[in-house]
This record gives sequence, structure tokens and C-alpha cells, in this order.
Amino acid sequence: MRKQLPLLFCFLLCFSLNCYIECSEEFSFELLKGTVDDCCCSYGKVFAKNQKIFHPLISQIAKRDFFKFFRVDYLKECPFWVEDYVCGIEDDSGCSICECSDDELPKFWDQPISDTLELKTDITEETFCEEDCTSSQWIQEEETGDEVILNLQKNPPKFTNYSGVGANRIWLAIYNENCFNDYGECREMSIFYKLFSGLHGDITLHIAEKYIKNGKTEPNVDFYYWKLHKYPDRISNVFFTYLFLLRSVQKAREYLDELPYPTISGTPDLEAQKQMKLFTKSLESCSPGFDESGLFSEIPELKEEMMKQFRNISKLFDCVSCVSCRVHAKLQLLGIATSVRILFAPNTENVVKTLKRNEISALINTVENFSSSIAYIGNMEKRLQERNEKEKNNKKDQENSVKEL
Ligand SMILES: *[C@@H]1O[C@H](CO)[C@@H](O)[C@H](O)[C@H]1NC(C)=O
Ligand SMILES: *[C@@H]1O[C@H](CO)[C@@H](O)[C@H](O)[C@H]1NC(C)=O
Ligand SMILES: *[C@@H]1O[C@H](CO)[C@@H](O)[C@H](O)[C@H]1NC(C)=O
Repeated sequence: MRKQLPLLFCFLLCFSLNCYIECSEEFSFELLKGTVDDCCCSYGKVFAKNQKIFHPLISQIAKRDFFKFFRVDYLKECPFWVEDYVCGIEDDSGCSICECSDDELPKFWDQPISDTLELKTDITEETFCEEDCTSSQWIQEEETGDEVILNLQKNPPKFTNYSGVGANRIWLAIYNENCFNDYGECREMSIFYKLFSGLHGDITLHIAEKYIKNGKTEPNVDFYYWKLHKYPDRISNVFFTYLFLLRSVQKAREYLDELPYPTISGTPDLEAQKQMKLFTKSLESCSPGFDESGLFSEIPELKEEMMKQFRNISKLFDCVSCVSCRVHAKLQLLGIATSVRILFAPNTENVVKTLKRNEISALINTVENFSSSIAYIGNMEKRLQERNEKEKNNKKDQENSVKEL
């Protein structure tokens, strides 16, 4: 009763959903307290809002036609070493790719989405892309002609056991061969590092939650414990990357709210648009999760340097030897690149209007992916706690039975 009183009081004081959530921040694990590094939101708040608002909305949005498709050349050659196309799982089924047949492909893929859109502005791509639009893109993929449009729902991410040597090689190359020691400890560099570490953490979380052992899929608490729980900074970076992604969605809001999100047959998807509006509006309640102001003001040339590095790292993702993993890794990298592009642009408004269909799809699917990860962290911490309590009780029982003897 005592515990319920303040809650009730709080609920009566402020009826808004927002406030209710703030009052019920039941998520505070020992591991991470306070505010997400370099961000303005607490872990508890991000977790609670994700659970109650963001996750339900974004997972609905990601299911709409528009976000089902991703265009990719998934058989590009790895430029750094000869790769072995090892899948990880014994029969190769987990790594195969299902390409769409023509009748399932979205019509008008190549048509700029803004063509089908009556934006309240008459700016065309040329007028604001004076320097060259691609120069603001953090990943520059040359067209190979081998790109295919994949239906992500027919190619769901699967646990492929691809977490051993091959995957390590890529992460080591990212951390060891693509560092930026020259710029020391500046904020920009640390953001850059956190984004990759966040992506790494996110991928690890999905492996832990959907672990396959002896043909059965079940969460692997030990795997989580040794790979993530023992390194709170890794978990913290997943939160950071999530807030970073959300901030970019919020900044692109005016544009995202107005897009028609054409369905496969090319008609506007009003439901998708409605959900998107709800989602971007809901982000106000955690705003700004990340504050991008002042970045690159002290070392302007740093941005060029970081872009080069980002592009180099993106080529490493062509070295992921399990192709189904590669598709999802490339999708997420493009999602992060799109987010970076929005947040690091001198003029967000202009950049936002040049976003390509693939970038928007990647961004939203990546937000959805990280949103699941945040939920997985909560699940895993709860399982760990329950396990610890069980062990404690077992010990007590043992002691008691010894006493009784
Ligand atoms: C996963 O990889 C390990 C080591 O490479 C192997 O021993 C194991 O059998 C694989 N698991 C599955 C389900 O294929
Ligand atoms: C690009 O990445 C590769 C593979 O990690 C690395 O060997 C190379 O030094 C990197 N290049 C630059 C310019 O950083
Ligand atoms: C998120 O992405 C990771 C890595 O690409 C993948 O393993 C995982 O299954 C994805 N999860 C969802 C829900 O899309």
C-alpha cells in the first residue's frame, strides 16, 4: 500500500500519458544509471518509452509495404581479402537469399518519392544540391548493375551461427584498422566510435535473444552475460545509437510526415503516413535525446576525414561471408549513415529532401531493429536477476536443510 500511494498520487497529479510513464520508470538496472552518455535522456526513461510507445508504433510502421523492400548488391566482392562465404550453420539454409519475383516488386521504385508527393515546397533536387547531392552521403555505393530489390519479410534475419572467426575479423578491422587517433578525444570521434559499438552491440543482442542450440531457438543468458552485461559501455552504446537514430527521425519529421509511402501497386498508404505522424510526434516526449549542435565547429576538416573512414568501413560490410547476414548488416549501416547524414548536415532541411527511398527504408528498419534491442536488454536483465534470485534461494534452502539436520 505504501508503495502504491506515491504512484497513485503521481497519476492523479498528471493525467497525461507522458507523465504517467515518467512516473513509472521501473527500469533501472544496477548496471546503468543516470543519463545516456552524451545524451539528454535517462536509461530508465528511454527504456520505458520504448516499451510503451516507440516500439509498438515503429514495429507497425516497418510492416507497411514501403518498408518491406531494400535494394542491395549482396554479392559484391570484398575489396580487402579473399572471402570464403562461410555460413556458420551446418546446412546452408540459414544464409540463403530469396529474391523477389517481378509481380511482388514495388512499382515505381526508381521514381523519386517526392514526385508522387505534393510537398508544400517547390524546391527541386537541383536547386539545393548545388555541390552534388552524393557528397553528403556517408556511404557511396557505385552502381554495379547487380542490385536486386529484396523483400525483407521474405528474408528475415535469422540466427546463422555467424558470430565466430569471420565476424570477428570484420569487427577487428573496424576497431583496429579504421581508427582516428589523430584527433584524440574530440566529441565527434567518440560519437563515431559509439555508433559502431552500438551496431556491434545490437547485432550481438539479436544473436543472444534468438540463439539456436541443438535446433532449438531460445535466449542465451550466458552469451548475453559474457558479451554484454560484463561491459556496460557496450549496452550504453546501444542506447546511444538508438537515441541518435531517433533524433534524426525527429529532425526529418516534416518530410517523413508528408511522404505518401506508396504501396506495392503505387497507391499512397495513408495508414503508414498516419502511423508515421504518430511516431514522430511521440518522439517529442524524449526530445532532444541527442544534441547535435556545435558538432564540427572546431575542426571542420574532421567531417571529410570521418566520411572517408565511414565509406571505407562500409566496404568491409561486403566482406561479411554469410550473405543473409550481409544484407541485414548493410541495411543497418545504411540506416546509420542516413541518420548521420541528417544530423551532421549544415542544412538539414535540404538534405532531408534528397533522401532516397532506400535510405528511408533503411533508416526506419534500423530504428525498428534497435528498438527491439532495447527491449531485449530489459528481457535479458530480468532473466539474469531471476537466475540470481533462484540461486540465492537454492543456497538458502540448502543452508536451512543443513540446519534442520
Ligand atoms: C555453430 O558453430 C560452431 C563452431 O563453429 C559449431 O560447432 C556448431 O555446430 C554450429 N551450430 C550450428 C547450429 O550449426
Ligand atoms: C580501410 O579498411 C581496410 C580494412 O580494414 C584497412 O586495411 C585500410 O587501412 C582502411 N583504409 C583507410 C584509408 O583507412
Ligand atoms: C537486426 O539486425 C541484426 C543484424 O543485422 C540482425 O541479426 C537482427 O536479426 C535484426 N533484427 C530485427 C528484428 O530485424
